[in-house]
Amino acid sequence: MKYLHGFNKKEQDRLYFQSQFLKEQVFRNVDFHACRDILEIGCGVGAQTEVLLEKFPHAQITSVDASEAQLARAKERFKNHPRKKQVKFILADAKNLKFPANSFDAVFICWLLEHVPKPVDIVKEANRVLRIGGRIVCNEVLNNTYFVDPYSPMIQKVLFEFNDYQWEIAGDPFVGAKLGIFLDTAKFKGITVMPAWVHFDRRDLIRRKEFMDHERDLFLSAAPELLKEKRITPAEVKELKREWEVLKADKDSVIFYSWMQAFGVK
Ligand SMILES: C[S@@+](CC[C@H](N)C(=O)[O-])C[C@H]1O[C@@H](n2cnc3c(N)ncnc32)[C@H](O)[C@@H]1O
Repeated sequence: MKYLHGFNKKEQDRLYFQSQFLKEQVFRNVDFHACRDILEIGCGVGAQTEVLLEKFPHAQITSVDASEAQLARAKERFKNHPRKKQVKFILADAKNLKFPANSFDAVFICWLLEHVPKPVDIVKEANRVLRIGGRIVCNEVLNNTYFVDPYSPMIQKVLFEFNDYQWEIAGDPFVGAKLGIFLDTAKFKGITVMPAWVHFDRRDLIRRKEFMDHERDLFLSAAPELLKEKRITPAEVKELKREWEVLKADKDSVIFYSWMQAFGVK
């Protein structure tokens, strides 16, 4: 399956920034304090692995991803990490993990399920490898919550093409809203699903600018693929960049984005 953002260094760096920037929201209500063996599925470059270790320094973490390029970057990043002995990075397809049943106390999934054709199969696989009483936490996108002001038509157009193309290649930019159904189908108990969000305006100009820069880069990371597919033109990419600059320069601009978090117990 195609991966819309690509695996180049700029995109990998974006994941390190994103995990630190959003960590209080992504890890809100995540309580793995009593969990020793944590499985992180779709770990990418190990950006959330760093946060997992920060928050749960006692844990043994097994982090899997289907991309050798992402794992190579993760291993490089952890070469000098003081807790590197607590982390294993393993090449694996999330829907077919090689771990025996009942191997882990917790599963952490973040920004993965939008990229796969049958997300429920991955949630079932997570359930299989968890011990009884083990916990799952998922953070996943819901891209139609995206809002910027002043109105920016090219951002809206590129967002539509991004979502529509992801849908065409069997991903799901709205997968977050369905997490409750996946956890229920996979037989998790005590399921809770709730939105998480970021909202910035002139009351915090530094974070607003940082988030807008991040979002501009996220949009641009998909641009080469959208250009190749003739969904957008080079002139539209230029206009997209201009609109982001207008937003950043406007004292009263606003940006809001919400995604979904789901929690369950085996
Ligand atoms: C947007 S990245 C998120 C990485 C990390 N969770 C984070 O928040 O920084 C999505 C990752 O999912 C991985 N991925 C996609 N399909 C996968 C699959 N079937 N099995 C394992 N990993 C997969 C990609 O290689 C990519 O590294």
